[in-house]
Amino acid sequence: MDYSRANKEAWEQAFPRHQQGYKEDPALLLQRGDLSFLEDDTRATLTQIGLQGKAVAQFCCNNGRELLTMLKMGASKATGFDITESFTAEARRLARDAHLDAEFIATDIYDIDDSYADRYDLVLVTIGALCWFADLDRFFARIALVLRAGGSLVINEQHPYTNMLAMPSEDGFDAERPDQVVFSYFKKDPWIETNGVDYIGGTSYTSKPLYSFSQSFAAIFTALRNSGLAVESLQEFDYDISAAWPHLSGRGFPLSYMLGGEKT
Ligand SMILES: C[S@@+](CC[C@H](N)C(=O)[O-])C[C@H]1O[C@@H](n2cnc3c(N)ncnc32)[C@H](O)[C@@H]1O
Repeated sequence: MDYSRANKEAWEQAFPRHQQGYKEDPALLLQRGDLSFLEDDTRATLTQIGLQGKAVAQFCCNNGRELLTMLKMGASKATGFDITESFTAEARRLARDAHLDAEFIATDIYDIDDSYADRYDLVLVTIGALCWFADLDRFFARIALVLRAGGSLVINEQHPYTNMLAMPSEDGFDAERPDQVVFSYFKKDPWIETNGVDYIGGTSYTSKPLYSFSQSFAAIFTALRNSGLAVESLQEFDYDISAAWPHLSGRGFPLSYMLGGEKT
């Protein structure tokens, strides 16, 4: 099964819905210097690392609003990689309208080639990216490829603990006990969903199937190490960044995390 190809079709289908979901053109917000497309803790982490003059990349960049925000924070060069033609075309439009210089490449992350080797000081991966990759070794090997020696990796993702929770739209969700463990932490077969991915407008629609994967922290750490990436820091947060479990935020459950890595 070619999961990337199937997911690409479903993501292309989401594009017009995301466009309708934005209340204001993201280019205008970027022009005004609004940095809120990045989560507060991600922005704080990037500020601490320091972006001034750096070459940065984002894997699974969607319409590029987060990557373009990194340019507003001082990065000097930026490349976004995403499998879709539609979102990367929109990312180019946003860059143009916000007077920012960035390149956007429509490619499966697995297919990023050697011409990008050793180009970046920092790679960013944010919420809703890792889940599309059944083979994390292949995913992190691409990050190790594009980073310069000593370059940084920042991941802000949904916590693997949430592998076990049902979303309100899923069978097994109990509104009386939204925190109960429903699924195996170690689920191996893919999730197959047809409710769409409109996390911008919040609408639900019947979509082409989306295939995603649960990953444990052990799987993530092992794949990082296999790819020559060292874990430098890990923070866990009790708040949701996925729009799937806002009702559990602040109740002591690990819902998201920030991982800092380095190419050794
Ligand atoms: C949840 S979104 C992006 C995350 C980012 N936090 C954002 O909201 O802009 C996930 C993105 O991953 C992209 N994607 C999915 N599978 C991919 C693959 N195999 N290679 C590259 N991009 C992929 C999708 O096209 C989509 O834009």
